[in-house]
Amino acid sequence: MATFISSTLMSTDHTPKPASAAPHAGDVVSAFPHKHLLGIEGLNPLEINYLLDLSDGYVEQNRQANKNKAILAGLTQINLFFENSTRTRTSFELAGKRLGADVINMSVATSSVRKGETLLDTAITLNAMHPDILVVRHGQSGAVKLLSEKVDGAVINAGDGWHEHPTQALLDALTIRRRKGRIEGLTVAICGDILHSRVARSNIHLLTTMGARVRVVAPPTLLPTAIERLGVEVHHRMETGLSDCDIVMMLRLQRERMEGSYLPSVREFFHLYGLDYDKLSVARPDALIMHPGPMNRGVEIDTVVADDIHRSAIQEQVEMGVAVRMACLDVLTRNRRAHASEALS
Ligand code: NCD
Repeated sequence: MATFISSTLMSTDHTPKPASAAPHAGDVVSAFPHKHLLGIEGLNPLEINYLLDLSDGYVEQNRQANKNKAILAGLTQINLFFENSTRTRTSFELAGKRLGADVINMSVATSSVRKGETLLDTAITLNAMHPDILVVRHGQSGAVKLLSEKVDGAVINAGDGWHEHPTQALLDALTIRRRKGRIEGLTVAICGDILHSRVARSNIHLLTTMGARVRVVAPPTLLPTAIERLGVEVHHRMETGLSDCDIVMMLRLQRERMEGSYLPSVREFFHLYGLDYDKLSVARPDALIMHPGPMNRGVEIDTVVADDIHRSAIQEQVEMGVAVRMACLDVLTRNRRAHASEALS
């Protein structure tokens, strides 16, 4: 169910802050008392706002000529990707490097998993190398949590099956908050392949927790059963689903996860659910267009709409992604760094 958020719980000052003004060491335990970031479900508004406030500082830092701040110097970050990824892996790599971590990328094509090693063997082997942080993407829902139970370092879920993709929801929230000044009270329409989308699930948890009104817009075949239980309104037509909404969040049609016939044809899907100016005309005139990427142009979104610099925040989402991941790496390694500096003094 949607959680009603009292405005007193929400941080109201959303003006971007420099990284140096971000909250510091001692407050992290109470502000974000989690060892891992496995999902958005279960986080509260204060924790979400804490990560977003910190991310605002990193957005400013990333726009400076010198983008580096070596707070993770000496720490090792392993990006362990069992599924293909370009933008998410690059974003995590850049985030770790800008904070001074030693970043290693491991993808399934080069790993022993191909030779029959199980996920847990991989976890135990990597753990013996003492990584401080593991960023993990896996095709099975729940696999990242399982791995987190076997390692000593902090684990960030970079997408597990159809389940969650928490840093995507955080970067979407940061984009919305910076553009609209708030999340609470906005109407957000999440459209397209909801069934296969971890991005949709993480966004639903985050946006309802922060007091937004969330609609899902999709054909019945691309909606999970009982999705209303997550506190969303269900629409099967773009015309009603997009009516007066503040944010239109399009999703990629995940054809690689589809077995059987979910759609009559891709052309038919574009005709009924593809975002074009005609369908957009019922949304608020200042409605923001978002897409997590990679886009199927002409399938879920018209190419002209995607590239409309006045309406589309798609490039900004990519920029926010690096800042959000820096904030997550910062927060999750802060207690370790605090202990390390105590040991040195
Ligand atoms: C998303 C993902 O992998 O879940 N993409 C991403 O993180 N860049 C969305 C998608 O693949 O459609």
